[in-house]
Amino acid sequence: ERDGRSTQTTDDVVVVSNRQPYRHEYDDEGGINVSRPTGGLTSALDAAMRERNGTWIAWGDGSADRDVVDDEGHVTVPPDEEEGTYTLNRVWLSDEQVENYYLGFSNRVLWPVCHSMLMNVHSEAAYWQNYEAVNDQFVDNVARHVGESTIVWFQDYHLSLAPRMLESRVPDGAFLAHFWHIPWPGWDMFRACPHGEEIIAGLLGNDLLGFHVPRYGENFMECVEQTLPDADVDRDAAEITFRGKTTTIKAFPLGVSVDTIRTGAKSEAAESFWSEFADEHHLDEKRVSVGVDRLDYTKGIPERFEALERLWEDSPEWRGALTHVQIGSKSRSEIEEYMDIQTEVEEEAARINERFGTDEWEPIVYTTAHLSDEALYGAYRHGDIALVSPLRDGMNLVAQEYVAAQGDDDDAVLLLSDQTGAHDYMGEWTVTVRPQNTDEFASAIDDALRMPASERRERMRELRNRVEDADVSRWMHSVFETIAEMQTAGTGGSDG
Ligand code: G6P
Repeated sequence: ERDGRSTQTTDDVVVVSNRQPYRHEYDDEGGINVSRPTGGLTSALDAAMRERNGTWIAWGDGSADRDVVDDEGHVTVPPDEEEGTYTLNRVWLSDEQVENYYLGFSNRVLWPVCHSMLMNVHSEAAYWQNYEAVNDQFVDNVARHVGESTIVWFQDYHLSLAPRMLESRVPDGAFLAHFWHIPWPGWDMFRACPHGEEIIAGLLGNDLLGFHVPRYGENFMECVEQTLPDADVDRDAAEITFRGKTTTIKAFPLGVSVDTIRTGAKSEAAESFWSEFADEHHLDEKRVSVGVDRLDYTKGIPERFEALERLWEDSPEWRGALTHVQIGSKSRSEIEEYMDIQTEVEEEAARINERFGTDEWEPIVYTTAHLSDEALYGAYRHGDIALVSPLRDGMNLVAQEYVAAQGDDDDAVLLLSDQTGAHDYMGEWTVTVRPQNTDEFASAIDDALRMPASERRERMRELRNRVEDADVSRWMHSVFETIAEMQTAGTGGSDG
């Protein structure tokens, strides 16, 4: 094993998430194929882990071939070692666990509750039983890596029970942190969450609990006050003490890897992808808007199409003159609500194209083809405007990627929903949209397309500064700086 260490010795940093950063599969010739799942969490943390080394523990979804890894169940990643390596340790889940813990409790209960979409909540007893059991299984694995100076860093809503389960099993000095990548709703919404009290108590096993924006932390404290009368909540200090453990709540806005995107957007691969794509869809001489989303009902894609339809209806001058390129990636497709949204997006695009399309113009170019990172950055760079219109989103990294992909003199315009965490940080320089307000959204698109170049450039400059400030490496450093400060002050660590 790497550095000659065995699984029994401890690591400095152990990251724990549901989603793995790399999937290893055999191809037909017995070679190994490496692929990367989509989603903001894994790409952000991969960059962080390349710097910190350490171990990443995650569900081995799709990497069904256990013999790709060594005897201890470890594989050293990523494949390009010059940029830093870390160890990936997989947790293997049964079909029943995947069904109930991942598709069930995580994505049909916690996901819709936290995004305030209660009509999509569906709960079964087996969801919760498996959620508990899988959290426990992760903890068994994590516990083997933890020594008295280890920082364990949990990610997201799949693992909310793990911190409290782990706390009693690790030596004094180990530090438990958690980053919650989705919104935390107010109490009036969260009270609809089955087992909400246990979820909150689980998270209060952490020394540090991070959210994207201060609002979510405030909502969390409100929920603690309402559910756990024994907890001592110090709102000013943002500290909660419960059963002898103190948890600090703090906002750390997650960003993107700005340099990687900027370089990728200027690459040969980006250019050649776009010139072919533009040719194929007759995009020359037309203005282009782009949308890039996981196909999730939180992303507001039908609402976006409705606004576009309204624009083409009310302002015929944009017919044949504006094309919307919608790139969608399939996600959680086993879940009914996700199947429904995929169908709806596809059907709506087809209907609008049928209504307005001509031989020379396809109003909505919709693709679910898997694009390389460079191709995606190329699409961002060539999009005159981007439509980022979630109904609710913890942060939203597409908005930041779009900005990062623009060159120094570029004058692209970002339309951004006020329901995203990103809007709290950069909304001032975007064209704000309220996704369900169709008329307003349609005229915002019109405004963005008519905005004078000087104003577009000025806004983009400001946005670029914001996005650079939030760069993912800064995010990670600020989390670890906070941990170091807490350790020095003696406010962290499992000391009983
Ligand atoms: C969101 C969540 C992540 C998740 C990603 C992709 O960004 O916060 O935890 O990994 O979506 O979803 P998936 O279910 O495919 O992991």
